[in-house]
Amino acid sequence: MKGRNCSIDYILNKNWASNINEHNNSTIYIVGGLYGNFEALKTIKDFALNEDEYPLIIFNGDIHWFDIYEDDFLKVENLIKNDIKLLGNVEYELINPNNNLGCGCNYPEDVDDGVVERSNDIHSAMKDNLKNSSVLNDIRTREKTYVLEYFGKKIAITHGDEKSLSGWNCSIDSLKDKNREQNLNIWLEENKVDFLVTTHTCLPVVKKLNKKYVLNNGSSGMANIKGTTYGIFIRISNKPCSQAIISIKEGNIYLELVKVDFNVENFINWFDNIWDAKSPASISYRNRILNGTNLEKEEIII
Ligand SMILES: [Fe+2]
Repeated sequence: MKGRNCSIDYILNKNWASNINEHNNSTIYIVGGLYGNFEALKTIKDFALNEDEYPLIIFNGDIHWFDIYEDDFLKVENLIKNDIKLLGNVEYELINPNNNLGCGCNYPEDVDDGVVERSNDIHSAMKDNLKNSSVLNDIRTREKTYVLEYFGKKIAITHGDEKSLSGWNCSIDSLKDKNREQNLNIWLEENKVDFLVTTHTCLPVVKKLNKKYVLNNGSSGMANIKGTTYGIFIRISNKPCSQAIISIKEGNIYLELVKVDFNVENFINWFDNIWDAKSPASISYRNRILNGTNLEKEEIII
């Protein structure tokens, strides 16, 4: 079934974490799963302007989703043109000449067929609308991974997991598995990675492994936690911030999950104009946007 299978194109190069980018030690934002939410994007950008020094912002894929029309899509792109943008499966499947993978989500077995089919429908509408858009040329230049050092710690960033762009092995369930923990420890050691930062599973999780961490922001553009509406991004800095819902100090570095407290009324008005009550996006996501998920904040650190 489309939307469940993984292409070999998604498999990451074995040594991807050795390709280290220059960094000037400014604060780092890693923003996964914006899903085309322009209100959330504005909130993140305003937050960045309030830092002492403008941070390095890395958009960790699935920047787009609900923004299936070119005007909305480009509005998001224009505001992030100077930031680093990595591929998520949503972007990868826009530039994939084949349509055999649907949304490219690579959903696991426990996600029901209805969700998978609706995601394929959302993606194919977007792909149709953008098929002649020049923005695809820009998306083709995007990388799957980004690695940098920050005060002596190595940060490796990718959309899915350490092996695949659409991998689910940094989900809450997967990270609770003891065998998985062992494999991760080996990978982090071998690649000298201190912080692996991912997204894709749409639910936030932080796993501590000795002095190393896996950090998954869940979604920056959609609610993550029960009874709340805010998105979450990851902030790595030598100073803490006031909007963090989780703040971990490791050495002299703060690893934080930070609220994206966007204007939900504006967002849902925009959303409802595109996605009526019977649309796949409304059926799959409208309740979550307004009411959150079943996850409690206390369940994020495992
Ligand atoms: Fe994804």
